[in-house]
Amino acid sequence: MPARRLRTHFADASGGLGYHLRALRFRHSLWAPYIATVQRWLHDWRPPADTLVVVGPSAGYALDAAFLARFRSVRALEPDPLARALLRRRFAQIAWHFDRLDCLHDDGGPAALAAAYPQAAILFANVLGQALEPALLPAWRGAVADALRLHHWASWHDVLSAGAAPLPADDLDPAAFSDAAALARALWRTAVEVTDHDTFALAPQGRALASWRIAPAQWQVVEWGAHRPADAHGAAPPATQVRQ
Ligand SMILES: C[S@@+](CC[C@H](N)C(=O)[O-])C[C@H]1O[C@@H](n2cnc3c(N)ncnc32)[C@H](O)[C@@H]1O
Repeated sequence: MPARRLRTHFADASGGLGYHLRALRFRHSLWAPYIATVQRWLHDWRPPADTLVVVGPSAGYALDAAFLARFRSVRALEPDPLARALLRRRFAQIAWHFDRLDCLHDDGGPAALAAAYPQAAILFANVLGQALEPALLPAWRGAVADALRLHHWASWHDVLSAGAAPLPADDLDPAAFSDAAALARALWRTAVEVTDHDTFALAPQGRALASWRIAPAQWQVVEWGAHRPADAHGAAPPATQVRQ
């Protein structure tokens, strides 16, 4: 089956004009702690690849130029034309390539991504908890683990959201919780309606959490995780040695 092409849109549930207006209002205030945390995660992620593919960057409100500049080629899969124009303007020193593969439409997306970018590192930029059909998530989750097993890839994604503030999430180890419901019980100790985005533990390594006050009365709990391929003998490469 041929890979599905991204359809241009100016607005959808996960981005578009409303998201840019929110960013304009809040990125230097409510969003600032969340953006600083994402930038730290990106700084620490060092995939050995010359090409980076960013899926769903919007205008890159949580990306930073020093991270992007590490790659010889930066490609983006982003259906919103305004986001693409803003990305070019906000990161003028990066030679952006905008491609048209839609890797979120069905569970063949990860295999299409792997085939189109065999050598690249892939970054899902807070898109998997929002732009993937919830019914597709279980199959897509299996498909990404299989199709991208030889790639370096990472994702930060919404895990939980609510209209009331969670307790601080940043110092919690997500691996200490069996599932998203257990995490929600630890973060909201009162009766609150919490939405589960079904993305908990989506990427296996280096997992971490942050909370994001996306609007005055709306909070998201966001998880980071990465995948590092096993070496030719099937073992994960050794962790970086720190000299004392
Ligand atoms: C919440 S925004 C991402 C946030 C952004 N990374 C940031 O730093 O602010 C989700 C983005 O995913 C994009 N998107 C929606 N469907 C997509 C698809 N099928 N493939 C790639 N991106 C998609 C939306 O246009 C939107 O810009």
